[in-house]
Amino acid sequence: MNQLAEEPSKLYFIESYGCQMNVNDSEIVAAILEELGYQSTKEEKEASLILLNTCSIRDKAEQTIRYRLKDFQKIKRKNKSLKVGILGCMAERLKTQLFEEEKLVDLVVGPDSYRALPSLLQELGLGQKAVNTLLSREETYGDIAPVRLNSNGVTAFVSIMRGCDNMCAFCVVPFTRGRERSRSHVSILQEVKDIVQKGYKEVTLLGQNVDSYRYSEDPTLKGKNLIDAKFDPRVINFSKLLEMVAQVSPDLRVRFSTSHPKDMTDDVLEVMSRYHNICKFIHLPVQSGSDTCLERMNRSYDSAIYMNRIDAIKRYMPNCALSSDFIAGFCGETEQEHQATLDLIKKVRYDMSFMFYYSERPGTIAARRYKDDVPLEVKKRRLSEIIALQNQIALEINQTQIGQEQVVLIEFVSKRSKDVYIARNDYNKKVAVPKKNYQVGDYVLVKITDATTMTLIAEDIRKLEHLSDIK
Ligand code: SAH
Ligand code: SF4
Ligand code: F3S
Repeated sequence: MNQLAEEPSKLYFIESYGCQMNVNDSEIVAAILEELGYQSTKEEKEASLILLNTCSIRDKAEQTIRYRLKDFQKIKRKNKSLKVGILGCMAERLKTQLFEEEKLVDLVVGPDSYRALPSLLQELGLGQKAVNTLLSREETYGDIAPVRLNSNGVTAFVSIMRGCDNMCAFCVVPFTRGRERSRSHVSILQEVKDIVQKGYKEVTLLGQNVDSYRYSEDPTLKGKNLIDAKFDPRVINFSKLLEMVAQVSPDLRVRFSTSHPKDMTDDVLEVMSRYHNICKFIHLPVQSGSDTCLERMNRSYDSAIYMNRIDAIKRYMPNCALSSDFIAGFCGETEQEHQATLDLIKKVRYDMSFMFYYSERPGTIAARRYKDDVPLEVKKRRLSEIIALQNQIALEINQTQIGQEQVVLIEFVSKRSKDVYIARNDYNKKVAVPKKNYQVGDYVLVKITDATTMTLIAEDIRKLEHLSDIK
């Protein structure tokens, strides 16, 4: 290690922003860099290569990156040979414009171009700036084994697809991530088996719209529609993939994100209900409760279709936990439309939600077609109403769990107390558990004794050797 520290050209520092897919992409980048002889460092000051894997989803996300870049200015003044690279969605959106706007940036690499890193780094070595933002229709990095950075050794994310073919009016993702493509189920299963062997206890399958996962070795079948895919053994759809992943090990918990209301089929719910190790939790973003707003958002469903999916979930799994994303103050949103969102929240009663106010993104359908006409203070007020209602419901739901016995997976030591572990239950809720002699990665049967909006508090009952000890 010391020897490497003396060889500054081989230490990289990488930081991820945005969604879990970016976290997973950084692990792929790490694998590519380590193949080149680089080693990771957690100290930005000692790195010779600093990489920020960026997000463009809202303007604030991009501002965060611009502030972060300022921190590196000082380091670069001291260490002239330091190279700074922007990866991910902001790289894809702004391309070479980034070189003009942020003088210290040397390298710009879009999400489908990480295989070009070796040659791009060579260009940097010659004192040039380097850029590659080509999007691909095929790239899934399926053959690259991610290097698990900052991992707790217990929970892992596995990308099953890339890109997005939906065109939600507000969203920049189709522009920054390109067309949707599914990764081979063979390579997904290989990766899942590998993490089980390494002792991981939980996997989350990732995609912008996992329900449209479709893979076939026969390229002519790749575009097969979802209904046909279900009956064609040559095509793997999401329900088949989910079942195969659940069968890898009965002691591996399986989660997935994100489900799309227009594509989530009953066969996925049916598979979930049959496997004790598929967590009973679905993130099903609705964005708005108003049909007219949903139409402007180009979400391809209305509130009736959405409620039909919620009813189906409850039919298959009465206790399934639910979460959503909301955008307050989208273009043209009226008080009535906002009220419809509050009404829907009351009807569904989500366990938790991610809530944002609308941020216009250049180039999107909404930016081209509609005026961003809801004043900022109105956006903020509506958002705070959504948050207050959601928090109240989350607390009520959490309080109903007091007294329940639940199985939790221990993830890490609490930041507030070294005698407490933070674990997670099936419903994706954080549970505070006494540390005692338990270990990170243990399944523990607990009894819930108290609840807040975000966390459950529990007393331990006993360690479980197998997840299936209690069904
Ligand atoms: N693929 C997922 C969403 C990924 S982006 C889906 O379709 O549900 C995560 C969330 O960011 C979105 O669900 C949306 O609520 C929010 N979001 C996306 N674009 C936004 C924008 N321009 N302004 C505010 N929030 C936005
Ligand atoms: Fe964006 Fe819509 Fe695709 Fe989600 S489904 S990533 S919101 S375009
Ligand atoms: Fe952000 Fe890109 Fe993910 S825009 S949310 S990092 S796909």
